[in-house]
Amino acid sequence: PTISRHDYQPYPYQIDQVRLEFDLAAEQTLVRLAFRARSRDGQIQPLVLDGEDIELLEVSLDGNLVSPQDYLLNDQGLTLSPPAAEFDLVLVSRCRPQENTMLMGLYVSGNSLFTQCEAQGFRRITFFPDRPDVMSRYEVVLRGDATLYPYLLSNGNLLESTTLDDGRKQAVWEDPFPKPSYLFALVAGDFDVREREIKKANGQPALLQVYCDRGDGDKTEWAMQCLEHSVRWDEQRFGLALDLDRFMIVAARDFNMGAMENKGLNIFNSAYVLADAESTTDASFHAVEAVIGHEYFHNWTGNRVTCRDWFQLSLKEGLTVFRDQEFSADMLAQGLDGAQAASARAVKRIDDVSVLRAAQFPEDAGPMAHPIRPESYQEISNFYTATIYEKGAEVIRMQHTLLGEDNFQAGIREYFKRHDGQAVTCDEFVDCMDSVYRQVKPGQSLDQFRRWYQQAGTPRVQVSLTHDAAKQTATLTLRQSNAPAGIEDKAAVKPPLHIPFALGMLDQHGQPLSLHLDGQKGETLVLDFTEAEQSWTFTHIPEAPVLSLLRNFSAPVKVDYYRPDAELALLARHDTDPFARWEAAQLLATRLILSSASGRTPSAAQQATVVQTWHALVQDPALSPAYKARILSLPSERELLEQTQPMTPRAIVQARRQLQRELGLALTPYWQELYQFLSLEQAPYSPDALQAGQRSLRNLALNYLLVAGVSTGPQLARNQYDQATNMTDRLGALSALVNYGDPEDRQDGLDDFFQRWQDNPLVLDRWFSLQATAPSTQVAQVRALMLHPAFSMRNPNRARSLIFQFCMNNMQAIHTPEGYAFWAEQVIALDKLNPEISARLARVFDNWARFEPQARDPLKAALERIQAEPGLSGNVAEIVNKALTL
Ligand code: ARG
Ligand code: ZN
Repeated sequence: PTISRHDYQPYPYQIDQVRLEFDLAAEQTLVRLAFRARSRDGQIQPLVLDGEDIELLEVSLDGNLVSPQDYLLNDQGLTLSPPAAEFDLVLVSRCRPQENTMLMGLYVSGNSLFTQCEAQGFRRITFFPDRPDVMSRYEVVLRGDATLYPYLLSNGNLLESTTLDDGRKQAVWEDPFPKPSYLFALVAGDFDVREREIKKANGQPALLQVYCDRGDGDKTEWAMQCLEHSVRWDEQRFGLALDLDRFMIVAARDFNMGAMENKGLNIFNSAYVLADAESTTDASFHAVEAVIGHEYFHNWTGNRVTCRDWFQLSLKEGLTVFRDQEFSADMLAQGLDGAQAASARAVKRIDDVSVLRAAQFPEDAGPMAHPIRPESYQEISNFYTATIYEKGAEVIRMQHTLLGEDNFQAGIREYFKRHDGQAVTCDEFVDCMDSVYRQVKPGQSLDQFRRWYQQAGTPRVQVSLTHDAAKQTATLTLRQSNAPAGIEDKAAVKPPLHIPFALGMLDQHGQPLSLHLDGQKGETLVLDFTEAEQSWTFTHIPEAPVLSLLRNFSAPVKVDYYRPDAELALLARHDTDPFARWEAAQLLATRLILSSASGRTPSAAQQATVVQTWHALVQDPALSPAYKARILSLPSERELLEQTQPMTPRAIVQARRQLQRELGLALTPYWQELYQFLSLEQAPYSPDALQAGQRSLRNLALNYLLVAGVSTGPQLARNQYDQATNMTDRLGALSALVNYGDPEDRQDGLDDFFQRWQDNPLVLDRWFSLQATAPSTQVAQVRALMLHPAFSMRNPNRARSLIFQFCMNNMQAIHTPEGYAFWAEQVIALDKLNPEISARLARVFDNWARFEPQARDPLKAALERIQAEPGLSGNVAEIVNKALTL
């Protein structure tokens, strides 16, 4: 069934206080729920409670047992007839955590019990109005076996912890803040615990705790540090303080997503908690930091102010992703200033934009395209998308750009002043920003800007430039368009968006020009681009300038501007905006790869320009190692593929590989020199920006040497692997050998790695991924790996490491009739266990119609095979049906 945004109705009852009692056991858990409900308008209306996959044992209203003929029970929930406009309800039900393979609701992971309630998991625990606008205070009583579950955790404050007469443990928790059911959590198990007491900004103490499996406790120091940094950062940059005396993070091995912001009790995929130098890469250290920040920041943006309904999901997710991006950028730039700080922040920006382009742009160009505030959905869990999260963050970032930091923070203060404790809409957030915007820009408003919440699709901006030497003016013209996107958008009228377009200009020698535009002056100006077509005339420009466009990626759009490679090369060497500079280099490489992928032989001049640019950059002493590693990398296969029409995956892989090889060969001495230089000093491991940058640049150099077949390469990689004292070096070397080495090195490396790490599940995931994505891996090898004793489809991290990695990132092998059939088969198999995860795998080829002709028929047949599967989940059905509607 399709749910529409415009059908929103408030819930007829208010439920101020909820009491929950759990008799916990993996096989079956008894849940007793009690609350008092009060009709909002004084009328007696049917009480409709959601409930799924749980057994109802007993219901009573105002103390009277209700017999089954007096209620309506089906597979969606329970409907009761209340005796009065205000009444007490008590309900006893049973669920079976052990059998819960969906990992939504109450489930078992390892020997412990965990919950995941967002978006609609609470209804798998008890019958309740499972919607975010019903907010209640929770008191929770947990009882369970004292040996299995010495820790019994829930939201808020621990009121008492006792041992019962029967020997079981009991804990009573109370969360002082009203919350929707999706923020409820409980955990029962035995853990290692790391604790730290901190002082909040107001001087009050708070207890931070990180829980993980016994034996992993030495891997939570980094998480604790990140949590403390998050608390400090939110106080300092947003003026938002921790509102609890205790804040807990618990790591779970089996978890559908990254993590969950349950009030005071964040539950995490262990991949985003556990970290130490030996077993964790630099990239994972930074992912831990980002996710810990993200969940912590939700405490205000998500929990204190939550969503009225799930169409407003980006209200909390877009804003919180923006906040975690800024947190990470501030952490990278700590202690730096001027150009160095800008370059450090640009590294984070580059990584975030790459994710947007690789994941969100394709979504916007496929059948699942939706605005950041969708108009309709069938399964809300299918809408935890790159659009809601990443594009949502871009839409917040544009408001930040339009307002500036100080005014944006004023808007945030207004938001909490108006809405603390409420469940609200995206519109209400923009209202707050708009109230400040109107004050600081009299006569203007964010009215037009709101269209970003309504329109799906990636807008295109066409650029043209004229220069008048006599008047010394340059006139820039921008045209915007946003083609129909997704299956609902065919006849959509899409009026122009308000696009903040940041721009700079260089002279023909690469020197930055100072821009003059009706009273404004500066090296970078942000244009308010609001018309379908709009022009700006800049004065004091004696010669034709070189445009530096969309600086810092000021809007989530695609820019079309035809200009000679030489101009891009100039920008790649000289642009003072580090993002635009990186972009210019990427664009140069992209042009070359796309033209050879399409079968044209690139001209010698075109090739020479790329090589010379890389040559200049590899030697540039002013670039930080992290930035250099980004600017010397080629765009990812996924980003490149997204730009082909129709999409030609195998040709892209080959063309990209060919350019890698050419750059490896043409610049061999430089890669060697860089590699040796970066191998020199070995400070004690730290994941800081400088060291991580050096390691990533060294691994990049190593990859260029191996891919080019330079004879010294394999020995360097073997040595690096053997001598590594951290996972970034070890895995970097192994991945170079596995991807570009000979079969013997590959096998030796993989065997050794398995021997060393077979007891660490997160590292074993890497071992599977590495093989899943290796160019030598075909469907048959993946099938063999699925039979490995360490493989399990039930653990989402493991399924992702092998199946998803193969289907998404091994383009040579998956784009075969055999590959497509394998994909369909795995979607069907996973769907029986975990529909939410299966639907994500189904999405890998929802854009089948954009592929080259020989791929389309087999992909369509694979989708039809999934569609025809009896008992298909609603999750996968929504994806497949939409994909086949195109
Ligand atoms: N709110 C969580 C986060 O972004 C994500 C939870 C999504 N859960 C799900 N089952 N889809 O931090
Ligand atoms: Zn989130």
